[in-house]
Amino acid sequence: MADYQTITLDRRGSVAVITINRPDKLNALNSQVHIEGVDALDELRTDDAIRVVVITGAGEKAFIAGADISEFAEHTAITQRNSFQERTLFNTIDTFPKPVIAMINGFCLGGGNELALACDMRIGSETARFSQPEINLGIICGGGGTQRLTRLIGEGRAMEMCLSGDMIDAPTAHKFGLLNHVFPADQLEAETLRIAAKIAEKAPIALQLTKEAVKFASKSNLDEGLRREVDLFALCFSTEDKAEGVAAFLEKRKPVFKGK
Ligand code: COA
Repeated sequence: MADYQTITLDRRGSVAVITINRPDKLNALNSQVHIEGVDALDELRTDDAIRVVVITGAGEKAFIAGADISEFAEHTAITQRNSFQERTLFNTIDTFPKPVIAMINGFCLGGGNELALACDMRIGSETARFSQPEINLGIICGGGGTQRLTRLIGEGRAMEMCLSGDMIDAPTAHKFGLLNHVFPADQLEAETLRIAAKIAEKAPIALQLTKEAVKFASKSNLDEGLRREVDLFALCFSTEDKAEGVAAFLEKRKPVFKGK
């Protein structure tokens, strides 16, 4: 197992928890966090015991307070462009073959919100706060904020968040559909792990294909999307887990899925 400096990786049964661990900098995303986060996901990608990943931030104050602004000071246009086109956490999470859940325990700003948006579900504490404050730095979102946020919560709401840089609270984020669930801060971890463990019991290949199909909905028109869905649906019929799921239903027992 790799020796990480800016993140921690814990395995809790079939759920892995990646914690961005720079609490003194409110878990700001520097290039090392991206590198180590991508490495951790690579480690988990081929670990059959892990079926769901949760990403969170260390400490009580922040999930992630954005990209590390001190690195912005050093970048030219081209080095910044290159660093966001390399293997970022955003795109690695987006295409990761297992469900990834953001557990949002505080400030979820800029690149932090973009990282949460790249995840498959977002679960927040009542104290979480969200914004795309790039506009206050004289720049725009670069990690998917204008694209994934718009697809998730709609143009008017995304536009206002990106143009104003204002923070919204957790109930508003929930109302917008940015958060799937909101829990009191002291219950956030237990409730998130409960939801993650429930998903982890499902058939792993079907989870992967579900993620692929749902993500494809925002990249395609309806006809292409429906064709992709039926192809992926048919692919499930080649798995042992489909045979097990159907047999278990007919035999009135709980299925045991193996990811085969
Ligand atoms: N990049 C680099 N460092 C950051 C950071 C970021 N995005 N966000 C916070 N930090 C650092 C602060 O510089 C400070 O470091 P220091 O103690 O060495 O000075 C430390 O984290 C604590 O932050 P601080 O600003 O003192 O906390 P606060 O409670 O007064 O304010 C915020 C909290 C989130 C409102 C404030 O930190 C903030 O606005 N951060 C930047 C948010 C942002 O614009 N993100 C998008 C970047 S594109």
